[in-house]
Amino acid sequence: KLDSKREREGESGVSMESPFKADILKGKVALLTGGGSGIGYEISTQLGKHGASIAIMGRRKNVLDSAVSGLRSLGIQAIGLEGDVRNRDDAVRVLESTIKHFGKLDILVNAAAGNFLVPAEDLSPNGFRTVIDIDSVGTFTMCHEALKYLKRGGPGQDSSRGGIIINISATLHYTATWYQIHVSAAKAAVDSITRSLALEWGTDYDIRVNGIAPGPIEDTAGVSKLAPDDMLKEMEHVPLYKMGEKWDIAMAALYLVSDAGSYEISSELLMFEGKYINGTTLVVDGGLWLSRPRH
Ligand code: HXC
Repeated sequence: KLDSKREREGESGVSMESPFKADILKGKVALLTGGGSGIGYEISTQLGKHGASIAIMGRRKNVLDSAVSGLRSLGIQAIGLEGDVRNRDDAVRVLESTIKHFGKLDILVNAAAGNFLVPAEDLSPNGFRTVIDIDSVGTFTMCHEALKYLKRGGPGQDSSRGGIIINISATLHYTATWYQIHVSAAKAAVDSITRSLALEWGTDYDIRVNGIAPGPIEDTAGVSKLAPDDMLKEMEHVPLYKMGEKWDIAMAALYLVSDAGSYEISSELLMFEGKYINGTTLVVDGGLWLSRPRH
């Protein structure tokens, strides 16, 4: 079996350099919901290490505090803002605080999510609604309230470019996943939100909206809460034959928010700048959702 982490870190245990230049996000400001732990924290770290100032939003003060000190210890400008994406007032307040502190917003990453394993027959409608509220409505609320800051010409924005939104999704709903009816429905809605906003806000405001659909990522709540005991056996079907790392998702995010994810078309016919990666959800799962048992 490949152990990519050890290979990447080498004997010293020191992470190899990112393939991206260290200053690609210099001067950018990013707000990440759920940015204080798990995949969200790794994205916060990598965006910060590549020059962005970071605001993280979360419900738990202790998680935010330790995430902010972790980021600051890496020399990253970071603040933590308490709030629940289910609460519109929290969304408004957190966005206002981000603007007050950093002067603008370039990147919104919606990584807050809720989950638990439960058979559909044992899930109450309120349990279903709770996950829809966090994942789908929360994502829409954050996007909706962030629009005025992200749009081309918004506060502190370059008048020629809009901001960027990344919605963290999943692959559960591409087929059907046992005991995940609520999250599958919620993430299907997230993907649909990504496409609709990419269409409307890409056209009207030059905002690119994309998603990332992680597969099983080691050392995350997603895997520890959801992975059945036979997860490793299941991994035999992953073409790359290993679980993903948070770093894999952060590199995908970095690609999507960088200029590599946008391409300026200068054409007399088009008369505007086209940002070419827009409305897609990038699957980062080693090919798992495509695979079937060997026998
Ligand atoms: C059945 C459950 C349940 C469980 C909660 N409920 N947990 N039902 N089985 N294990 C029901 C409750 O009974 C209640 O319905 C409703 O859900 C709300 O529960 P609360 O506990 O009041 O909700 P709340 O305190 O707001 O907590 C939200 C949460 C919680 C989603 C339930 O787990 C949470 O805060 N999670 C955040 C962190 C997290 O889950 N991270 C993992 C994300 S991983 P009733 O009817 O009784 O009122 C991820 C990966 C996806 O998203 C992709 C993986 C590949």
